[in-house]
Amino acid sequence: MATSTEPKAAGTQTGQRATLSITDNRTGKQYEVPVGNGTIRSIDLRQIKTSDDDFGLMTYDPAFMNTASCKSAITFIDGDKGILRYRGYPIDELAEKCSYLEVAYLVINGELPNKEQLADWTNNITTHTFVHENIKKFMDGFHHDAHPMGMFVSTVAALSTFYPTAKKIHDPEERKLTIYRLLGKVPTLAAFAYRHSMGMPYVHPDNELSYAGNFLGMMFKIAEPRYKPNQVLEKALDVLFILHADHEQNCSANAMRAVGSSHVDPYSATAAAAAALYGPLHGGANAEVLYMLDEVGTKDRVGAFIKDVKEGKGKLMGFGHRVYKNYDPRAKIIKHLADQVFEVTGRNPKLDIALELERIALEDEYFIKRKLYPNVDFYSGLIYQAMKFPVEMFPVLFAIGRMSGWLAQWQEMLLDGDQKIARPRQIYLGSDKREVTMLSQRK
Ligand code: CMC
Repeated sequence: MATSTEPKAAGTQTGQRATLSITDNRTGKQYEVPVGNGTIRSIDLRQIKTSDDDFGLMTYDPAFMNTASCKSAITFIDGDKGILRYRGYPIDELAEKCSYLEVAYLVINGELPNKEQLADWTNNITTHTFVHENIKKFMDGFHHDAHPMGMFVSTVAALSTFYPTAKKIHDPEERKLTIYRLLGKVPTLAAFAYRHSMGMPYVHPDNELSYAGNFLGMMFKIAEPRYKPNQVLEKALDVLFILHADHEQNCSANAMRAVGSSHVDPYSATAAAAAALYGPLHGGANAEVLYMLDEVGTKDRVGAFIKDVKEGKGKLMGFGHRVYKNYDPRAKIIKHLADQVFEVTGRNPKLDIALELERIALEDEYFIKRKLYPNVDFYSGLIYQAMKFPVEMFPVLFAIGRMSGWLAQWQEMLLDGDQKIARPRQIYLGSDKREVTMLSQRK
């Protein structure tokens, strides 16, 4: 089943009613609730009560396994078929024919830009790549071995103190400015976090370079008067940004929407989204894959490692997905990209271990039964490492690409008349009312 519902879906055939009939066996009462886009509204269940003082029926869905929290027109995924489209365009076509900035425009604005729109968009983002000098001082306060993702999350949050008018989230011009600023500044913050951890001077943005090329320059420039990125690596990084741009209601997009629904400024909401991404089950998985490959060590130990995973002693990182029950289409593109990168950088020796893990896992009943396939993170880290990014930077790289998706999800949420402050219900199973005993009398 597709996890995103395609726009056409009313889901009825001629003569059928688009409703669901419910019989409450506790009371014998019958109800009819509307069905639209393959869903019922949970609030329609509230009328189902056993008595007048009954709160009404709720649904219990930890981790949103079967709950749509919004309507969206940004990203379509069919997890069974391994399909991913941004605004209707297949991911492989976008990766082949567009730059990241074109895709960011598409994801945020709904259509691909024409030449003038792209020039204007690129210019606006490029003129916001510099950060306030005080950001450097702020960054200098971090410990020498601070994790770059921790620095990234904090400095994104700190941007809200530099741009207080971003709080005017209902002003379209302010939102536009924030979008330019965040897309422009996240590569700079990311590179500064890395340079700080290396004890190296910060490199200012070079606005003559492409989005990915400038980022590579800010990361790796040493003494050369002008940094010239390798074109294959620059293109590969740009494609990786495209592949990470959006992924519908994942953990960090959900954080962006939930935190943004309180109408906090977008920098604070983005910091929350980046924090969600940091976790090893989400954007931190790309780093975990490399730690795992190190742990496996050699190809001949793959079988024993898989055995441990099946015995519940750990997970095969970079495998499995809440939505994809087929090969992640992004992983397919990345595998191909890896060959091009390795031609320039030399082959990452860990590739052999990864390929062997994939081969064994895809033939194994445990993984077949659970429909566990390589996801985007399984091969991306091997490319990043070959390009000389330290493992700690991997989630930060994910965050740069995902910035456009977070902004698109945030704006869509703000403009959606159905949305309100995100506030789930709970099933209270704690103590009933009881009396407080004085400290002296407690056992
Ligand atoms: N290795 C071994 N077993 C696994 C794995 C794995 N990577 N992933 C899931 N399983 C098993 C899991 O133990 C469960 O088995 P059982 O039915 O016997 O209890 C079954 O498969 C279903 O898994 P689940 O945990 O219910 O699935 P989920 O949808 O809650 O979790 C996931 C999805 C991505 C968190 C999970 O597959 C995982 O932890 N994978 C490794 C981390 C990873 O690679 N994350 C990156 C995801 S893609 C990047 C992004 O987030 O955008």
